Amino acid sequence: MILKVEKLKKSYSIGGRRKLSIDVLKDVNFEIQKGETIAILGDSGSGKSTLLSIIGGLDRADSGSVTFLDKELGNLSEKELTELRADSLSIVFQEYHLLPHLTALENIEIVLELHETHEVRKTALRLLNQVGLQERASHFPSELSGGEQQRVAIARSLANNPQLLLADEPSGSLDQKTGTKVIDLFFDLVKERKMTLILVTHGRELAKRCDRIFHLEEGVLVQGDQ
Ligand SMILES: Nc1ncnc2c1ncn2[C@@H]1O[C@H](COP(=O)(O)OP(=O)(O)OP(=O)(O)O)[C@@H](O)[C@H]1O
Ligand SMILES: [Mg+2]
Repeated sequence: MILKVEKLKKSYSIGGRRKLSIDVLKDVNFEIQKGETIAILGDSGSGKSTLLSIIGGLDRADSGSVTFLDKELGNLSEKELTELRADSLSIVFQEYHLLPHLTALENIEIVLELHETHEVRKTALRLLNQVGLQERASHFPSELSGGEQQRVAIARSLANNPQLLLADEPSGSLDQKTGTKVIDLFFDLVKERKMTLILVTHGRELAKRCDRIFHLEEGVLVQGDQ
């Protein structure tokens, strides 16, 4: 087992004087084996991104536990959490999150430089090649289409050879045709590398490409038939 989530709770307090609290995650439990792909479906506002950012170590839960590679995230310091993130997981966001002042190639190299000192350029070019963008290596994000930016983001997400890949609506900002192409490529790479994947999406068809499907409803994660 690579990841285990138990009794996870997260609330947000909003508003000023009259403190309002919304319980986004009430009791989330699930586990995922190495090499498995799971999809999480849920209405807008149901807490999918919240759950993903807690698993990804970007946010902390109020209670419960997330055990990733035998480490409980709640027990780690910010530094340990950052290291675990850099070494073992990657997140692909809906809005790509590329660094605007770096070229496509440099956006990938920056991840590789944290891990190895040699052959950074060669490896970055190979990754860019795998997403079909070797010709765009020196383009800045603003000079790339949405689909191309997401392909760079996908190449970047593979650069640290992550144990766990988290994807939050990776085709959400793309038109349907481009989105399908990018997702096909994404799943090819995930399958080829036998990656463990948690995919958050609104799309049922997309979710069906994963081994198991869960629904996030009323703060609870339920495994569905489809
Ligand atoms: N930092 C925050 N402060 C207060 N409320 C927040 C915060 N982040 C999220 N929320 C609230 O928590 C709920 C869940 O948000 P979240 O972004 O996880 O939903 P989601 O399922 O990813 O939705 P979508 O499908 O639209 O991306 C929403 O009602 C949102 O308004
Ligand atoms: Mg979201």
